[in-house]
Amino acid sequence: MEQFFVRGGRPLHGTIRVSGSKNGCLGIMAAALLVKGKTTLHNVPDIRDIYTMGEMLRQVGAEVEFLGNGSVCIDATSFDRTQAPESLVRAMRASFYVFGPMLARLGRAEVSQPGGCEIGARPIDFHLKGMQALGAKVEVNGGIVRGEAARLHGAQLYLDFPSAGATTHLMITSCLAPGKSTIENAATEPEISDLAAFLNHLGARIDGAGSDTINIDGVEELKTEMEFSILPDRIEAGTFACAAAITRGDVVLDRVVPSHLLPVLVKLQDMGVEVLPLDTSEPEQLGRLRVRATARTQCVDILAMPHPGFPTDLQQPIASLLSVSQGTATVTDQVFENRFKYASELARMGANIRVEGRSAFVTGVERLCGASVLATDLRAGAALVVAALAANGETVISGIDHIDRGYSGLVEKLRGAGADIVRADLTEPRSFFRAV
Ligand code: EPZ
Repeated sequence: MEQFFVRGGRPLHGTIRVSGSKNGCLGIMAAALLVKGKTTLHNVPDIRDIYTMGEMLRQVGAEVEFLGNGSVCIDATSFDRTQAPESLVRAMRASFYVFGPMLARLGRAEVSQPGGCEIGARPIDFHLKGMQALGAKVEVNGGIVRGEAARLHGAQLYLDFPSAGATTHLMITSCLAPGKSTIENAATEPEISDLAAFLNHLGARIDGAGSDTINIDGVEELKTEMEFSILPDRIEAGTFACAAAITRGDVVLDRVVPSHLLPVLVKLQDMGVEVLPLDTSEPEQLGRLRVRATARTQCVDILAMPHPGFPTDLQQPIASLLSVSQGTATVTDQVFENRFKYASELARMGANIRVEGRSAFVTGVERLCGASVLATDLRAGAALVVAALAANGETVISGIDHIDRGYSGLVEKLRGAGADIVRADLTEPRSFFRAV
């Protein structure tokens, strides 16, 4: 079983190149099923979830070729299966996004319920209610969601909560639903805007993406032969910013869009971290960010909310930084109900952190101590890596398959910035010594 071995205390420095967005890419890969032809995506992150989605698309009849240079070519001409393998849908929630394209192009769909995971129940009621409004007959039996739609039609859609997944899934599906659709109380994450840009390049007619009201005029079909570059991963960038801060390092994050990171950057600055956009005047443009901390940071409260609030995917890494900051802080997650499993692992490293319901209460300590810890989910794992980089001594992190789902080349990127971290499988003793 592979683990990360981290010796803490080394300030990060130099440049870290940020990869393409996991969550942005997953939605766009599913949307490629709408196209009776080829779509080539660039700046695709080299992470497990992307390959899982690639396999899912193959299983429903599309041809998927990873081109090796961060690009993938998807040809959905022969997309003809109306059933998705349960194992893949259960392995990754975003696999459920194939349900809408099946209805839109094939008129039928049979996909397993994605199920919850370590961070909450994660129901799909908003997705199903929206599909029904778009004209599908939907039923759930024995954990399988079945849908039929002789013909979809435009609809007025309202989300009880600005769900990123439901907004993604319903925007994709309504592109081919004749008539006008509106999604009210839509998610406004940058990944939604990127997905709309992708679909509009293909001939869809979407406006308002990025706001809480998205209008879609359904079209007969989307054109083919399109290339598109995935936006940078703001969550990966924010994770590295926390790592730079906790190690009192000086790091340049390359290929970020500063405005996508605004809530995180403001909080880091409130904590005393220096954040400097480099070489770009427009915060909306792709550029570089310098993140530097020369002294112990100050605690601030964090309220994780839907965008443009503080992202729920970064409340864990910043909690690691808060655990060694001066003062006390409350971290509240208003998006997921069970996203503090990392707290007990941070406590094993000496953090003073207590969880009550949707909040964690942190009192900063001077230093954490290395320990053997377990990643329970993707962003909890990221929090443990951030903590380990500044802890006294060595930390061994198990459960790193969770981390591999969402961070490409994490060890290489951190080692390139001076961190002492290796991936090794101690069941093969030689592998550890070979790696160091
Ligand atoms: C997406 O998950 C992301 N995943 C998550 O990233 C991210 O944390 C989340 O959005 C919030 O930004 C992908 O994009 C693949 P939601 P999603 O629907 O779509 C409730 C990561 O670490 N809800 O916005 O599942 C839900 O339970 C992952 O990269 C319903 O009640 O999140 C949650 O409380 C984790 N019914 C809230 O809405 C529904 O039908 C927000 O969920 C759908 C959601």
